[in-house]
Amino acid sequence: MHSSDFGKDFLWGVATAAAQIEGAANSYGKGPSIWDTFAKRTGKTKKGHNPSEACDFYHRYQEDIALVKTLGFKVFRFSIAWARIFPLGRGQINQDGIRFYNNVIDECLKLDLIPMVTLYHWDLPESLSKEGGWTAFGINAWFNEYVAFCAKEYGNKVKHWVVINEPFGFTSLGYMLGVHAPGQTGVHNFFDAALHTAIAQAEGAKILRAEVKNAIIGTAFSCSEIVPYTQSAQDLLAAKRTDALMNRFFLEPVLGMGFPTADWEVLEKFAISHSTWRYQERMKFDFDFIGLQNYFPLVIKYNAFIPVVQAWEVKAKNRRAPHTAMGWEINANSFYRIIKQFAAYPQVNNIMVTENGAYFQDHLVDGKVNDQARIHYFKAYLAAMLKAKNEGVNITGYLAWTLMDNFEWAEGYQARFGLVHNDFKTQQRTIKQSGYWWQDFLSL
Ligand code: NOJ
Repeated sequence: MHSSDFGKDFLWGVATAAAQIEGAANSYGKGPSIWDTFAKRTGKTKKGHNPSEACDFYHRYQEDIALVKTLGFKVFRFSIAWARIFPLGRGQINQDGIRFYNNVIDECLKLDLIPMVTLYHWDLPESLSKEGGWTAFGINAWFNEYVAFCAKEYGNKVKHWVVINEPFGFTSLGYMLGVHAPGQTGVHNFFDAALHTAIAQAEGAKILRAEVKNAIIGTAFSCSEIVPYTQSAQDLLAAKRTDALMNRFFLEPVLGMGFPTADWEVLEKFAISHSTWRYQERMKFDFDFIGLQNYFPLVIKYNAFIPVVQAWEVKAKNRRAPHTAMGWEINANSFYRIIKQFAAYPQVNNIMVTENGAYFQDHLVDGKVNDQARIHYFKAYLAAMLKAKNEGVNITGYLAWTLMDNFEWAEGYQARFGLVHNDFKTQQRTIKQSGYWWQDFLSL
């Protein structure tokens, strides 16, 4: 398998996110984000790690973007920290922040890399969170103001956009389970946040369409093949509910189908209480590409004690299935199947894999990280993607997660997903063997 098997226009890249790499979290005029404050709360992140320095990308972006080029990629996906542009979330702007992203974009263009900008990758300005954040009615206007500003400021140089990163990820972890920022819990918070997010992803895209000439607009969904543990009616239904939540919930409104409320009373109630049909048009947008992010399949079993979804994950290690250091099952065939599941919607006609990658225990020995497991992972996942592509799925790009080891949210700095190793004490970057593998792969 060679990269040329995917066609010469296929977009190969790496993905990153502001809060995970930038650092300079409290300087150059940036306002605090919900991750800056959440990480300070005791017990919220492993070892109390926080994003205040991260990879210090803020000062080292030239070196890091040069690495993207060295590895042979064409696309550099990064996100804009909302609170670096609008320290309070809206109103007053921060010139240093605006300049920083201009510099990052210019650096990409100078090296003939495509800058791909994510507008929201989980770091909501703290001051908006104090007003309710994604659960607040006002969020759509605040988000639109921010998007319009970015579109006007960067739209002449940036054509590739991702509106929102993994809506299910941050609304479920941050507003229902409370394990991510802002640490809120409960199904009410989740549904409020979810409705506003579903509106934001389409409205943000509409603003980009109006403001940016020749824009290529996508938005990025997490997805997981859902496999019932047994064929019992209860397990099958539990799997179906999980699929509705994890794979369909944010995608179908975009496609004009509204939320997937049929067959599940809980979602029907949500639709009624929030009158979601009224927002059907606002939640709809004909995206140029659907970003698909996959890390693992889930095996699901009925469990009456789990609130709302009444479903329980049977973990990979308990099934003796191969898994990463994150505990996530390695299963390239399931990647193939979830791509096919997304491609089966007639409205989905262009898929870009906007994230895929793995955390393994890496060891830096004599200046080398010999991460064969990661190479193995990528080979298998790329082969699965090629199979789907050869069967006719229009897959137009693949972005590896991630350029370098970084702040992995609640997991802190120990969960290393990078193609480049980072020493967080010295900020020394070392290309891992997987990085060199990509370099070879992309040269053919
Ligand atoms: C998806 C998220 O978008 C990204 O921020 C995160 O680091 C990776 N998954 C790995 O967990």
